[in-house]
Amino acid sequence: MKNILITGGAGFIGSQFVKLMLEKYDYNIINLDLLTYAGNLENLKDIEDKKNYTFIKGDICDKVLVNEIFKKYEIDTVVNFAAESHVDRSIENPEIFLITNILGTQNLLENAKKYWKLTPEDKYSREYKDGVKYLQVSTDEVYGALGEEGMFTETTPLNPNSPYSSSKASADMLVRAYYETFGMPMNITRCSNNYGPYQFPEKLIPLMINNCENDKPLPVYGDGMQIRDWLHVKDHCIAIDTVLHKGAIGEVYNIGGNNEKANIDIVKLIISTIGKSENLIKYVKDRPGHDRRYAIDNTKITTQLGWSPSYTFEQGIAETIQWYLNNKNWLEKITSGDYMKYYEKMYK
Ligand code: NAD
Ligand code: DAU
Repeated sequence: MKNILITGGAGFIGSQFVKLMLEKYDYNIINLDLLTYAGNLENLKDIEDKKNYTFIKGDICDKVLVNEIFKKYEIDTVVNFAAESHVDRSIENPEIFLITNILGTQNLLENAKKYWKLTPEDKYSREYKDGVKYLQVSTDEVYGALGEEGMFTETTPLNPNSPYSSSKASADMLVRAYYETFGMPMNITRCSNNYGPYQFPEKLIPLMINNCENDKPLPVYGDGMQIRDWLHVKDHCIAIDTVLHKGAIGEVYNIGGNNEKANIDIVKLIISTIGKSENLIKYVKDRPGHDRRYAIDNTKITTQLGWSPSYTFEQGIAETIQWYLNNKNWLEKITSGDYMKYYEKMYK
C-alpha cells in the first residue's frame, strides 16, 4: 500500500492520472490542487467518493500545508503535475510561472527530503518497490526547438525559449540537484503535446474544436507550419505509471508517440471532421519566440521499460473531437466565466 501525493490532479493530465491510479491500484491517493482557472473538479466527478481518495485544495508553494500533508498521510510518493502550463499566458505574465513551477517544486522536494530523512547515499539505491519516490512531470519544451531534422533524446541539452519552458527547465534542474546533493529518489518525465478529453480550451485542439463548432474564427499563429508531436493523454498517464513503478532512480525518460503534425493540418482535420469551411481559418500574429518543431525520441522508455502508445492519432483525435461535441456543458461552464476575458484580450 502506498500513499501517493498527486499535485495538480484537477487539471487535464493530472485528473486522468488520478483516475488511472484509482482504477489500477489500492493506493491512497491525495490530490493537492489549488484549483486555478485550469483546475476543475468536474474532471473527477466519477471518483470523488472513493474511500482511498482525498482532495485538498491548496498551493504546492505552501510550506506549512505541504509539511502537514506529508505527516498526516505518511506520503511515500509524489507525482508533481501542478504547474502553470500555458505558453501564451507565460508570455503575458511570467511571474506566476516562476512561483508555482520553480518554487512550488522546490517546496515539494524540500518537504520530501525532510520527511523521508534522505541521505546522499540513498542515491545509489536504484529501485522503487517499497521505497519512496519523487516523480516530476516535465515537458519536451525544456529542450527548446528543433529544425527540420533530429529528435530530442534525454541527453539533448536544455535550451528553453519561453518563460513557461524556462520555469519547467529550472524545476528539472532542482529535481536533479536534490538527487545529486541529497539522494532524492527521483524520475523526470518529459512528454510531448497531449490531447484528449478535459483539456482546457485555451490549448490548440480544444480551442479549435470549440471555435469551429461555434463558427468562430480559428486563430492560426504565423504560417501554421509549426510541428508538434501529439500523444493521447491516456498514453501519457500509462507512461508515467510505468516510469513510477519501473523507472530506474535518477533517470529522465522522454515520452512521445512518434506522431508529428503541422498545426495547420490539425486545424484542417478538425474542420473536415466537424464539417465546416476552411474559410474559418484566420492567420494571426505569431507567438513571440515560437518553437518551430518538437519531436521526441522515445527509444529509452520503449526499450528499457516496455511502454508504447496504444492510441493511433486517427482513433484518438476522432474520439477527442466527439468527446468535446458530446460534452458541451463542460465546455460552456468554462467558456462562460473568466476564461472569456483572457480570450478577448489574447485574440483581440
Ligand atoms: P493544466 O493547466 O491543465 O493543470 C494544471 C493543474 O495544476 C490545475 O489543476 C491547477 O489548478 C493546478 N495548479 C496550478 N498551480 C498550482 C499550485 N500552485 N498549487 C497546486 N496546484 C496548482 O496542465 P496539464 O496540461 O494537465 O499539465 C500538467 C503537467 O504536465 C504540467 O506540469 C505540464 O507542464 C506537464 N505537461 C503538459 C503537457 C501538455 O501537453 N498539456 C505535455 C507535457 C507535460
Ligand atoms: O510540448 C508539450 C507542451 O505542449 C506542454 O508542456 C504545455 O503545457 C502545453 O500547453 C503544450 O504547449 P504548446 O505551446 O505546444 O501548446 P498549445 O496548445 O498552446 O499550442 C500548440 C501549437 O499550436 C503551438 O505551435 C501554437 C499553436 N497555436 C496555439 C493556439 C492556442 C495556434 O496556432 N493558435 C492558437 O490559438
